[in-house]
Amino acid sequence: MNSKVLFTSLLLGIVIIGGCSGNNFESNGNASMDHSNMSEEEMMDMEGMEMEGDPEPVELKNSTGENELVLPPLLEPENEKGIVYNITAQKGTTEIFDGVQTATYGYNGSFLGPVIRLTEGDTIKLRTNNALSEATTFHWHGLDVQGAGDGGPHQLLQPGETKEVEFTVNQQASTLWFHPHPEGATAEQVYNGLAGLIYVEDENSKNLALPNEYGVNDFPLVFQDREFSNDKQLDYQAVLNEDGTLGDTLLINGTLNPKLTVRKEKIRLRLLNGSNAREYTFKLNTGDKFQQIGTDGGLLNKPTKLTEIILTTGERAEIVVDFSKYKPSEDIAIINENGAVLLPFKIDEQKSNSVDLPETLNNYAVTEEERNLPVTKKIELFGMGDMVTINGKKFDMNRIDFTQQQGETEIWELYNKPDMMGGMTHPFHIHGTQFKIVSIDGKEPPASLQGWKDTVAIQPKQTIKLAVKFNNKGVYMFHCHILEHEENGMMGQVEVK
Ligand code: C2O
Ligand code: CU
Ligand code: CU
Repeated sequence: MNSKVLFTSLLLGIVIIGGCSGNNFESNGNASMDHSNMSEEEMMDMEGMEMEGDPEPVELKNSTGENELVLPPLLEPENEKGIVYNITAQKGTTEIFDGVQTATYGYNGSFLGPVIRLTEGDTIKLRTNNALSEATTFHWHGLDVQGAGDGGPHQLLQPGETKEVEFTVNQQASTLWFHPHPEGATAEQVYNGLAGLIYVEDENSKNLALPNEYGVNDFPLVFQDREFSNDKQLDYQAVLNEDGTLGDTLLINGTLNPKLTVRKEKIRLRLLNGSNAREYTFKLNTGDKFQQIGTDGGLLNKPTKLTEIILTTGERAEIVVDFSKYKPSEDIAIINENGAVLLPFKIDEQKSNSVDLPETLNNYAVTEEERNLPVTKKIELFGMGDMVTINGKKFDMNRIDFTQQQGETEIWELYNKPDMMGGMTHPFHIHGTQFKIVSIDGKEPPASLQGWKDTVAIQPKQTIKLAVKFNNKGVYMFHCHILEHEENGMMGQVEVK
């Protein structure tokens, strides 16, 4: 849908540029279809459009299912008592394609990162090390942590540097993630492979009868699209698109052409859209329903039946698919909105007792008081490509855009202002908090969004109200999670005092 808007916008743009005379495009010498002023990239975009006439600029290829899905390792603490985790950003090479070494980045390994498992109430120390030859940061996306430890662009680690963050885990069971955030290099470092997962558990989640055996009936799925060069390398600068870099090749947990072998039981899938820009609509190829049990920052109040779920970049969702009703011979797969096969399943004969999901999972609510609070912060998202802004401004590390009191709930009103070409969906993210969506265009959000969130997709012309509270102090970023938009300045800062 994102891409449809983009396509229409491009087309409209060309019609306007090509069809009007005496308009202000004339003065830039851009008024005709003369291609001499266009970059190679722009020309390639146009050729693609003329040749294919397809609304999807970069289609994903089907997964052939020839490789079993790789599971990220679970990170064990260095020291049980102090609970210290060591995390090193490093370079390496990875055999993504058979017999070929691809240069990649990873945490504690050559590609992507481990899963860090935290329990509410624990005081933990994250010891971060930069073994790259460039500066980086360690950002904990979705974690409720003080600003100084959040890993935003202010907390740079130079090559060889080590920093420690200590905090007490003070939030609900959820699936969070971590990735770099250095100004100007976030998109490229993530693209090269810097991304890992954080699982938070709490008393409630430990007592619920939910599938929770890692790699048995509880799987992380990190979705990332990439464009590989002819020699199977990642060359971010060559494929960079100012409006969001897309690739034709999907990797899940870094696995090319993945398949997942599952038993005939209820399987929990923790979905993370870890792509730079691509939005996914996840469905089963059978059209069957599955159940959503969690949002970005917590469990839903009750399992919610869906036939599809959309995730924009940075967003997570936990779903449960009931494989007990399928035969091993059946072809079951997760597909996207265009039918591209993202993850085929192989169903094992082995049956295990599959229990019913609990009816109640959480006690999330938007209170009457929150509903009645006045809007105290307004955020206007606008533009495309490198013209993106928030409230008409581009990111400035030396400018604080908002202040808010620690522990106080404020209503942030987001508005996605369309441009003459329509505009596009922006995934809006706030650091250091989990917020509640109070309303979307004045209406209650769908069941699927009635839970803790740190990233919300906002479509052109939409107005979204959020109830935002920070439990810690410090400076936090808020931004569009299309990483190229963030790099282009679609980011601001809130200081919590
Ligand atoms: Cu995923 Cu500024 O973060
Ligand atoms: Cu974040
Ligand atoms: Cu954006």
